[in-house]
Amino acid sequence: MPVALSVNINKVALIRNSRGANRPDLLQIARDLEGYGADGITIHPRPDERHVKYADAYALRDAVCTELNIEGYPSERFLQMVHEVKPAQCTLVPDAPGQLTSDHGWDARSRHEELRGIIEPLQELGIRVSIFLDPDPEQVAFAKMSGTDRIELYTGPYAHEYKIDPVRAVKAYQQTAKAALAAGLGLNAGHDLDLANLQHFVDHVPGLQEVSIGHALISDALYFGLSNTVNMYKSRCVPTSI
Ligand code: PXP
Repeated sequence: MPVALSVNINKVALIRNSRGANRPDLLQIARDLEGYGADGITIHPRPDERHVKYADAYALRDAVCTELNIEGYPSERFLQMVHEVKPAQCTLVPDAPGQLTSDHGWDARSRHEELRGIIEPLQELGIRVSIFLDPDPEQVAFAKMSGTDRIELYTGPYAHEYKIDPVRAVKAYQQTAKAALAAGLGLNAGHDLDLANLQHFVDHVPGLQEVSIGHALISDALYFGLSNTVNMYKSRCVPTSI
């Protein structure tokens, strides 16, 4: 089964915001990405709205025909917006306000009860919930206790280690993925995935359902164009027989 590709369009919004007008048009980009084969659109509105703004989430709700995935720290403001927009998926991340980018997963061991209180009302609205997790099989049982539908593995460390030792890079992810499968949790992954490291991850992590990719994909599109770039990433979402 191919892994679904959800394209994170935060960096497109960052370019738009730098001039204050509507160029590039985020909604048109989202529609075009879907036309080129993206299986979903991800946005991560941060508290300072430096890239995707909260208002974009409402507009994208009506524009996206595939799956809209909204990521973020579950602040009161964020949760109110997600409750109103009702995306297909909401990915909860433990980011502090002002954080440059997500760089760690939840400590589900100490926070599963708190997470459960956030997750259940989202699920009651028909929203699938995923929580961002470090590649640590011991976190999986606690993630399960939170009631989440899926976990999203933080692939920053994988991307770093891949350049040094690809076999070792994927080990903790394989163990965590197996634990997730055994617990009946769905599996997503994201952060720092790119054209060089994506195929190896897809080939070696069992049960992977979705990757969300932004920074590298939008950067590659400067060279290859958006349509070609989506094709290149999509082809790496198909496991090679190994
Ligand atoms: N997943 C989460 C939780 C993120 O915060 C981000 C970055 O916004 C991504 C995935 C995508 O990471 P990248 O932009 O490096 O592809």
